[in-house]
Amino acid sequence: MVSNGAQVDQKDFPVLVTYLVKNFGPAGSAPAGQAPASGADADAKKILETACTACHDLDLVEDQHLSKEDWQMLVNSMIAKGASVGDKDVPMLVDYLAKTHGPKK
Ligand code: HEC
Repeated sequence: MVSNGAQVDQKDFPVLVTYLVKNFGPAGSAPAGQAPASGADADAKKILETACTACHDLDLVEDQHLSKEDWQMLVNSMIAKGASVGDKDVPMLVDYLAKTHGPKK
């Protein structure tokens, strides 16, 4: 991109690349300050990106900052509406949501 003429100062490269990797890196790379994603997180993310995008996009999820109990209720209500999340995957999904979209500190 820079060779195409993008204006990025040489000294900003490391900062930019670190930012991109952190925020747009491979699935499973966690935001700063969080433990690296485990396999369960990757699975939960996959469920979110498949089952939970059937009716609306994930902006609705991104906007939420809920406790684990509230995520549990929300996921239950989405399942009641028709989200296809298997019973055994619910706790994993709820854990993931509470971890990535927990209450604002
Ligand atoms: C069968 C369709 C459907 C599926 C699948 C679905 N949702 Fe929803 N979702 C809705 C509808 C409809 C709304 C609009 C708000 C409402 O009616 O409560 C909504 C709203 C939301 C909201 C906003 C809640 C609010 O209070 O405004 C969140 C967050 C959400 N869904 C998360 C999820 C998650 C997480 C999943 C996957 C487990 C999921 N949804 C799957 C239909 C669905």
